[in-house]
Amino acid sequence: MSSKKYFYLVLFIFLVAFLVWQSVKPMMIFVIDEKFARPMEVTVPEGLDSVSAQECGGCHEAIYREWSQSVMARAWTDPYFQTDYDYEDQPQNCLNCHTPLVNQQEDLVLGFKDKAKLKPILEPNPDFNSELREQGVTCAVCHVKNGKIVGPFETDNAPHPVTVDPTMTSGMKPCEKCHVVSGNRWDTFYKMSPCGTVAEIEESGQELDCVGCHMPPVKRPVVKGLKARIGRRHLFWGGHVPKQVKKALRVEYQSFIDEFEKTAEYKFTLSNVGTYHYLPTGTPDRYLTLEFRLLDGTGKIMKEKTYKMKRYIMWRPFIIDLYDTRLPYNKPQEYTFKFSWQEEPPSILDVSVRYHLLDEKRRERIGYQNKEPIAYPIYEEKIFFGEKYHKRHFPE
Ligand code: HEC
Ligand code: HEC
Ligand code: HEC
Ligand code: HEC
Ligand code: HEC
Repeated sequence: MSSKKYFYLVLFIFLVAFLVWQSVKPMMIFVIDEKFARPMEVTVPEGLDSVSAQECGGCHEAIYREWSQSVMARAWTDPYFQTDYDYEDQPQNCLNCHTPLVNQQEDLVLGFKDKAKLKPILEPNPDFNSELREQGVTCAVCHVKNGKIVGPFETDNAPHPVTVDPTMTSGMKPCEKCHVVSGNRWDTFYKMSPCGTVAEIEESGQELDCVGCHMPPVKRPVVKGLKARIGRRHLFWGGHVPKQVKKALRVEYQSFIDEFEKTAEYKFTLSNVGTYHYLPTGTPDRYLTLEFRLLDGTGKIMKEKTYKMKRYIMWRPFIIDLYDTRLPYNKPQEYTFKFSWQEEPPSILDVSVRYHLLDEKRRERIGYQNKEPIAYPIYEEKIFFGEKYHKRHFPE
C-alpha cells in the first residue's frame, strides 16, 4: 500500500472510532454555565429563625399560598423530575436549579475534577436540611442576598432587614439564572440549555418581561393588616395550567368544499398570540399537536392526520438542532387537511389541538408513572359535515 493510501486508511479508522465513541460515550446533554455551576449560599436574615417558606408564609400568607401551589414549590417533589433525575443517575448539577440552596443539598460542592464541571468534588453537608429541600425553588432563592431580604420596595415595617432591588419588578433578571442559560460547546450545535428553558430568546437578544406575564400584578397588603400595595401574584403558571396555555393560542380556519367534485380542504391557522417566547418553550419534551379525524356516519375513521409543533433534535453522534416547528410569537402558521369521498359524504371532522408535557415513548423509557395526564386538549372543534353549522367547544 502506498503511504498516501495508508494515511487515508488510518484517518478513516480514526474517524469511525471517533463517531462510534461519540455515539456510545456517556453524555451530559448540556453545558454547565457559571450561572448554575454551584449551589447558592444564603445567610438567615436577622430577625428570622430560618429561611423556610413556612416561616415567611406565617406573615406573607397570600403569597405563600400561591407559591405552594406553583411548580416552583414542586421543583424537587415533582414525580416527573424525580424519575428523570434517577434515570440520569442523579447528577449533582440538576440540584443547582431544582433545589438551589446549599442546605437543600446533601453534599457540599468543594470543586470540580474536570474543566467542564461535570464531575463535582463532593463532601457530606453537615447542615443539610431535608425539609428545606422539599421546598424546591423556595422564597429565599429569589429573596435572600447577603443576609438581607431583597424586594421591590422601600419599607420600615419589616421585622427583617430589606434591600430594594429595582430589577425585580419586571424583566427577566430574577429568572435568568435558571431559565435563560445557553449551551455552546464545540461538539454541540444546539441552542438548547438544561431542561430547554427559554432558549429561543438567546437568538433574538430580546429582553422578555417574564415577571410581567408570569407574576400578574395585584393590589393587596403584603402582610395582613398593613396598607395595600401593588405587588405581584406568585403564580408561575406555565404548561401545567391549561388555561394559561389556552390564553396563548388562537385558532382560525377556512373551508373549501366542492360538492360536485366531492373534495374538501380545511385550512387551519394557529397563532401564538399570548407569549413572546415560543409556544411551547421550556424542556424539549414539550410539544403541541394539531389532530384531524374524519368520521363517516357510523363513526368509523375515514382519514386522519397529525401535525406536531416541536423541536427536533439529533442527539448522537452530535447534538444538533435539526428544525423547529413550534409557534413563534405573532407568526401565524397554516396547516391543511384535504379529503375526498365517493358515495357517502363524511359525517364529522374532529379537530383538536393538544398540549403534551412529554412524549409517551419518553414517559415509558424513563419509567414515569404519571398520576396527572401527560397531555390535554386546549382546543376542540367538531365540524358537522354537510350540515350548515358547526359547534365550537373549548374544554375547561
Ligand atoms: C414576622 C413577619 C414576617 C416574616 C416571618 C417575614 N416577613 Fe417579609 N415582611 C414583613 C413585613 C411586615 C414587611 C413590610 C410590608 C410593608 O411594608 O407593606 C415585609 C416585607 C417583605 C418584602 C418586601 C420588601 C421590599 O424591600 O420590597 C419581601 C420581599 C419579604 N418581606 C420577603 C420575606 C421572606 C422571603 C421571608 C422569609 C425568609 C419573610 N419575608 C419573612 C413581615 C415578615
Ligand atoms: C422565582 C423567584 C421568586 C420566588 C420563589 C418567590 N418570589 Fe417573592 N417576588 C419575586 C419577584 C420577582 C417579586 C417582585 C414583584 C414586584 O414587582 O412586586 C417578588 C415580590 C415579593 C414580595 C413583595 C410584595 C409583592 O407582592 O410583590 C414579597 C413580600 C414576596 N415576594 C414574598 C415571597 C415569599 C414569602 C415567597 C415564598 C413563599 C416568595 N416571595 C417566593 C420573586 C420570587
Ligand atoms: C433557582 C432556579 C429558578 C429560578 C430563579 C426561576 N425558576 Fe421557574 N422553574 C424552575 C424549575 C426547576 C422549574 C420546574 C419545576 C418542576 O420540576 O416542575 C420551574 C418552572 C417554572 C414555570 C412553569 C413551567 C411549566 O411548564 O409549568 C414557570 C412559568 C416559571 N418557572 C417561571 C419563572 C419566572 C417568571 C421566574 C422569575 C421570576 C422563575 N421561573 C425563576 C427554576 C427556577
Ligand atoms: C407575553 C407574556 C409572556 C412573557 C413575556 C413570558 N411568558 Fe412564559 N408563558 C406565557 C404563556 C401565556 C405561557 C403558556 C403558553 C405556553 O405553553 O408556552 C407561558 C409558558 C411558559 C413556560 C412553560 C413551558 C411552556 O411553554 O409550556 C415557561 C417555563 C415559561 N413560560 C417561562 C418564561 C420565562 C423564563 C420568561 C422570560 C424569559 C417568560 N416565560 C416570558 C407568557 C409569557
Ligand atoms: C439551569 C437550571 C436547570 C438545571 C441545571 C436543570 N433543570 Fe430541570 N428545569 C429547569 C427549568 C427552568 C424547568 C422548567 C422548564 C419547563 O417547565 O419547561 C425545568 C424542568 C424540568 C423538568 C420538567 C418538570 C415538569 O414537571 O414539567 C424535568 C423532568 C427536569 N427539569 C429534570 C431535570 C434533570 C434530571 C436535571 C439534571 C440532569 C435538570 N432538570 C437540570 C431548570 C434546570
